[in-house]
Amino acid sequence: MSRIELSVNGRARKLDVEDKLLLVDMLRERLELTGTHVGCDTSQCGACVVRLNGDTVKSCSVLAATLDGAEITTIEGVAAGSDLHPMQRAFSECHALQCGYCTPGLVITAIDIVEKSPDGLTAAAVVKELKGNICRCTGYVNIVAAILKGAADMGVPVLTEEGA
Ligand code: FES
Ligand code: FES
Repeated sequence: MSRIELSVNGRARKLDVEDKLLLVDMLRERLELTGTHVGCDTSQCGACVVRLNGDTVKSCSVLAATLDGAEITTIEGVAAGSDLHPMQRAFSECHALQCGYCTPGLVITAIDIVEKSPDGLTAAAVVKELKGNICRCTGYVNIVAAILKGAADMGVPVLTEEGA
């Protein structure tokens, strides 16, 4: 058992965690942040993606005990109060979800992709960056369109070709 102190969606948290507790289970079961989903047992689907110290991680593959001092952002921490994040709005407006199971992980990944591409983003680059996120029902056309719209709304240029 370890005691960890960390920030989750800007709120300081202090928890005693078992050595085997996964971050995704800590979020869902201890902090009741159930927007982070579990879609596989193999670290493949990306439904559990959150941000950890500014990077994306699959929270099903991170031990909570390692997170003393960490900053975590989950899908619950993305909106500014009742104002959805531009990427959340883009997913809604572009019909980029059906069941929504994959959506929290995709939105977190999408924000990370955009923030790490300040000079511009192409559809091909988005497709490449989504290799760790699986959607089982929508198909990816609308998801890619949503991420490009979200990028534009976040002030990142959308390029028509690589390097264009
Ligand atoms: S639940 Fe983490 S990658 Fe599938
Ligand atoms: S919207 Fe259903 S799995 Fe992606």
